[in-house]
Amino acid sequence: MSILPFDDRDGVIWYNGELLPWRDAKLHVLSHGLHYASCVFEGERSYAGRIFKMEEHHDRLLNSGKILGFNVPYSRAEIDAAAMAVLEANGISDGYVRPVAWRGSEMMAVSAQQTKIHVAVAAWQWPAYFSPEARMKGIRMDFGEWKRPSPETAPCHSKAAGLYMICTMSKHAAEAKGYADALMLDYRGLIAEATGANVFLVQDGKIHTPTPDCFLDGITRRTVIDLAKRRGYEVIERAIKPEELAKTQEVFLTGTAVEVTPVAEIGDYKFEAGEITRNLMNDYDALVRKHAAASAA
Ligand SMILES: Cc1ncc(COP(=O)(O)O)c(C=O)c1O
Repeated sequence: MSILPFDDRDGVIWYNGELLPWRDAKLHVLSHGLHYASCVFEGERSYAGRIFKMEEHHDRLLNSGKILGFNVPYSRAEIDAAAMAVLEANGISDGYVRPVAWRGSEMMAVSAQQTKIHVAVAAWQWPAYFSPEARMKGIRMDFGEWKRPSPETAPCHSKAAGLYMICTMSKHAAEAKGYADALMLDYRGLIAEATGANVFLVQDGKIHTPTPDCFLDGITRRTVIDLAKRRGYEVIERAIKPEELAKTQEVFLTGTAVEVTPVAEIGDYKFEAGEITRNLMNDYDALVRKHAAASAA
């Protein structure tokens, strides 16, 4: 499959307040964000031209910057408007939106106090993260080798670029063995999350999910917890050991990109894409479509 490179496409990208031709939205190789990972980003989905949970994503972007010690120089409302402008200018209805903020080139060492904070928002067509077949049957996952760091080791509540280094490494190792993704444990050896999504387990009709104390408390995670409670399911947030997968009937992932995706295997453990997972997949699909219809009205 040939993929159109992301730096060579038609369209426009919002860059520091202006809509630029796509190919001109560049940064210099001597940018602090590139060398020292002083960079935060978001991943959002638009359905029928409306971004689901847009305000929450942009609040998180501003907060991710604050955690890393910088102020994103645009308000939430300005970033909301930028994202909508990018969707409209590129004619995207069902797509993915990527805001990013990073430190620029004024200083090139660990200290970066005087750097300008740059912000860009891009959007592209990106309907599904896993193949439709994998979404029906459930994806196959391996255990990742890398552990989510403790809150004393990394700013784990920021959606910061640097935290994704071990996600890419874990995902590549899993893909090399034929798996779709990796389940990452945390620094204590407890179940944490996938490389770009949160994880839920169903045990005897109850839903269990790890307490997000060292990884992102996903916006989709919170949405799906609400949907589950509305259906009357019990949702328990707690520390979960990997051995518990042996008494787990269903596993699913949640995230903006993966939406609700069933998991068929993790290492030697096997699961059903069962009723609770199916119900929450359908409820999530219905909610994002309802939101799009309501915002269009
Ligand atoms: C590492 C990681 N965990 C969890 C999530 C899920 O977060 P959300 O539901 O806010 O997209 C994501 C996706 O952004 C992620 O990259």
